[in-house]
Amino acid sequence: MLGALGVGLAAFPRAEPETWTIVVGGDTAGYLAPCGCAKPMVGGVMRRATVVRNAASERTVSLELGPLAGGLGRQSELKAETLAELTASLGVDAIGLSADDARLGSGVVASVARLSQDRLTTLSLGPGSALGLPRTRTKGPFLIGAASVEATQMATRLADEAVPVNAAVQELVDEAQTEHKVPILLLDGRLDDARRTAEAHPELALVVYRSPGDPPKEPVKVGATWLVSPGEKGKHVIRLEWSAGSLRGYQPIKLGADLVDDERAAALYREYQDRVRSENLLARRPRSKGEAFAGSDACGICHAAAYTVWKDSQHAGALATLDKTGHDADPDCVGCHVVGLDRDAGFKSRALTPELADVGCESCHGPGAAHVADPGKGKMAKVGAGSCAPCHVPDHSPGFDFAAYWERIKH
Ligand code: HEC
Ligand code: HEC
Ligand code: HEC
Ligand code: HEC
Repeated sequence: MLGALGVGLAAFPRAEPETWTIVVGGDTAGYLAPCGCAKPMVGGVMRRATVVRNAASERTVSLELGPLAGGLGRQSELKAETLAELTASLGVDAIGLSADDARLGSGVVASVARLSQDRLTTLSLGPGSALGLPRTRTKGPFLIGAASVEATQMATRLADEAVPVNAAVQELVDEAQTEHKVPILLLDGRLDDARRTAEAHPELALVVYRSPGDPPKEPVKVGATWLVSPGEKGKHVIRLEWSAGSLRGYQPIKLGADLVDDERAAALYREYQDRVRSENLLARRPRSKGEAFAGSDACGICHAAAYTVWKDSQHAGALATLDKTGHDADPDCVGCHVVGLDRDAGFKSRALTPELADVGCESCHGPGAAHVADPGKGKMAKVGAGSCAPCHVPDHSPGFDFAAYWERIKH
């Protein structure tokens, strides 16, 4: 929390001296659901929606920093569209277009803009842009604009004309001056970029920037401009109190399990999951050639002791874990919870390849059909700590330690 740190913004008449709440979410980058692997789970749009909806009032400004999806391909398109629909339903006042989301192409960006009900905004494309996104948005005393430090890449991806970040921010500041508004910038850039921008445009009241990890414990101040960030992967929301022309309160809210899921967001998320399933995105994943798999039951015939250890381990129930929350057809999840999703001969579905469901012997030992046929000739590859690495990554297994984990499944 802040004390009376604020310095009045002399350049801007205080049309509204009352207190405003500013809620900032974002940098979702495709993380619509809290990652289920690491406990406690943090983030997700369902919890975020609860915080945003609870804060909603006549005197609340709600902002969303991009990227929405961050990635490429059909699943990213569905994510961006789902998030756009949700932000519209939450009455978010502005969403900043990011250069990452521009990779989805102008068709998808246009559809995201429509689903957001014209909340998707940027000053980084020329005024003649075919997309016709709003350049700024207003709420109460505030004028909100978005700009990207990668305007050139953004414009190239959208076959459009780029406005360099300084010119884009100048446009925001000028318009705010003319309309007697307080300018807020959603910056598709890092802290260094935010600092530079604030130094070049001291009229800015607030800059929202992207930062890795958790949001900073305290906001940064450059001149009279406050710099805040929601952190990464949609795990936090920042709640600000704004009065008498300056920031009076700052609170990063961690989206933890103590928050209930918002019902409308949960329904939208289920619709998204249904689309992922019905479009069978799992089948569209790129696969490489490789040798045939046999399935863990086939190995069990000769390696009974190893089989028993495996059967009793969590690996043997890894796909069932995903069934419970409807993620069993989600390309974001299935790869690490089955055998060989990245291979032609690997897992396809429970119906087609039941023997390759769950993390099996061959998830670590590699394809074993040749070895099953003739153990003396078909030698299995050497395995060790390195074979855990593709799945036990820090994001999904933060506490991973080979010695301790191997102890639990050694055979
Ligand atoms: C990069 C590989 C990877 C991906 C992708 C992945 N997981 Fe996991 N998941 C793991 C690993 C490894 C563990 C075990 C973590 C541990 O205990 O250290 C795990 C554990 C879990 C658990 C906890 C199981 C339990 O009972 O303790 C759940 C639930 C889960 N994952 C769900 C998901 C969902 C949902 C997705 C997709 C949104 C997903 N996983 C994507 C690797 C992955
Ligand atoms: C028909 C019986 C049989 C089946 C089925 C079988 N193995 Fe083996 N496995 C053996 C024998 C016998 C050896 C020892 C080979 C040697 O020392 O020449 C062996 C050795 C191994 C080794 C040590 C490395 C090597 O190649 O010598 C690993 C690892 C292994 N098996 C894993 C598996 C896995 C995984 C499966 C299932 C995909 C499997 N085995 C299926 C009989 C079998
Ligand atoms: C989570 C990864 C993983 C799974 C799953 C797994 N193993 Fe292993 N396995 C290993 C590792 C690591 C070793 C140790 C290799 C070493 O000590 O050099 C090993 C060792 C072995 C060995 C001894 C190899 C040797 O050279 O002495 C056999 C046989 C074997 N596993 C068979 C199986 C069978 C059969 C299954 C399934 C029922 C299975 N493993 C499941 C990772 C795994
Ligand atoms: C193909 C991906 C994959 C590989 C490779 C893999 N794991 Fe896992 N592991 C998982 C998943 C997924 C889970 C969680 C399963 C569940 O509960 O749904 C898990 C869970 C575990 C657990 C249980 C965690 C707990 O909380 O008790 C241990 C132990 C473990 N793995 C050890 C290993 C070791 C050691 C290796 C390497 C030798 C390895 N794993 C390789 C995916 C993998």
